Amino acid sequence: MNMDKLRVINAKTLNRDYKIFIKPGLRLELPEIIQDTLKLKGFEKIYLVTDNTVMSIYGETINKFLEKMPFSYRFFALKQGEEQKSIDNAKKIYEDMLDFNLHRNDIVIAFGGGVVGDIAGFVASTFHRGIRLMQIPTTLVAQVDSSIGGKTAVNINNVKNAVGTFYQPHLIVIDPLFLVTLPESEIINGMAEVIKYGAVFNKNILLCIKELAVSVKSGSVLKGVLSDTRFYEIIHKCCKLKAMVVKKDEYDTGCRNLLNFGHTFGHALEKETGLNLLNHGQAVAHGMLMAADASIISGIAKVSLKKIFTDIYSLLNMPEKLSLNIFNQSLNKAGKGMNKDLSTEAAVKKIIQSMEFDKKFSSKSNKFILLKEAGKPVFVYNLDKGILYDAIKNNISGEIK
Ligand SMILES: NC(=O)c1ccc[n+]([C@@H]2O[C@H](COP(=O)([O-])OP(=O)(O)OC[C@H]3O[C@@H](n4cnc5c(N)ncnc54)[C@H](O)[C@@H]3O)[C@@H](O)[C@H]2O)c1
Repeated sequence: MNMDKLRVINAKTLNRDYKIFIKPGLRLELPEIIQDTLKLKGFEKIYLVTDNTVMSIYGETINKFLEKMPFSYRFFALKQGEEQKSIDNAKKIYEDMLDFNLHRNDIVIAFGGGVVGDIAGFVASTFHRGIRLMQIPTTLVAQVDSSIGGKTAVNINNVKNAVGTFYQPHLIVIDPLFLVTLPESEIINGMAEVIKYGAVFNKNILLCIKELAVSVKSGSVLKGVLSDTRFYEIIHKCCKLKAMVVKKDEYDTGCRNLLNFGHTFGHALEKETGLNLLNHGQAVAHGMLMAADASIISGIAKVSLKKIFTDIYSLLNMPEKLSLNIFNQSLNKAGKGMNKDLSTEAAVKKIIQSMEFDKKFSSKSNKFILLKEAGKPVFVYNLDKGILYDAIKNNISGEIK
């Protein structure tokens, strides 16, 4: 393997230690990496899971790499989208793996975004009670977050991640050059997670993003930031942080919860806007602003905290206010609005109601991750509903267009 510019993270968990390799262009070295790293006895077959969109862009890369391997291989391409992370598709993959006569010593490769990674990880963790798993993440979300840490899942009846396992991969290979083909909405998705790492763990990440955004002179700022070689260092920092948190709390009973900063608000926003009007990252981006406001209103943080977020959003052209229109479009599309517009107050109440279903709420208490300042998170229990109300309302633009 060519070690030039290669970043290696040694992830350590209770069940397994594994390596995360990060380098632009690493896709060209996949055959050597697999053979050098996974020196596996009885390793005969590769089963690669991807999706149609990734296949249409990177089919040639996938085929070239598989053809160079001295093993037989087969691949399975899902359609793209969250709904493909289903138990029905998991069953189809199991059946195809049985047909291919895949054994425990063989290897499953997840080549794609978080959807592919989650379902391929789930299948790998359960097929023959656990088969070797390699992640090759191709979205920003998957590179900085979902491929690391061993959470796998499928959705059931629209309940997200209803069934899943903790199953650490055996190897992760991150090639940031895969990100150049991402559409802007997917970059925002991942950028929200990157900003989250900066806000919760390391404010230098926020400073770096700002610096990169300012240096983009033409074209899309998000694309410019993503293709700057300095951004690869940010990816490396985020992966290191995730690996460190997972090492401390693999089963998500303590500090791993910190990775949910902005997500309690975000999940409720996703649920209440529904119908794909707001993607996960956009919802988390708004959720972080709400969490910043809740930190300020409850007296935990200074007023200046919010500006840290709004400055970055403004530089990256990410929206700072959530338009009330989104709630109304969602109601109207679902046929529930009877063409009546929801007021800001009613929207806020719906979001709070939705939060009560979040896993961090019990019937009597709630739990939030707030910030004293960037890099200093705190768990807050039983946050007053009035504070919640104001924090949400501050971030909704009441104007109905
Ligand atoms: N396991 C975890 O710890 C964890 C953490 C965060 C999110 N997740 C899960 O991850 C999923 C979201 O992942 P995601 O945001 O990567 O979405 P995704 O996998 O749906 O990918 C988003 C879109 O980008 C396309 N795509 C992938 N790579 C591309 C590339 N290089 N160029 C162009 N298009 C590309 C995909 O085909 C898809 O249309 C959710 O299911 C979420 O629950 C899991």
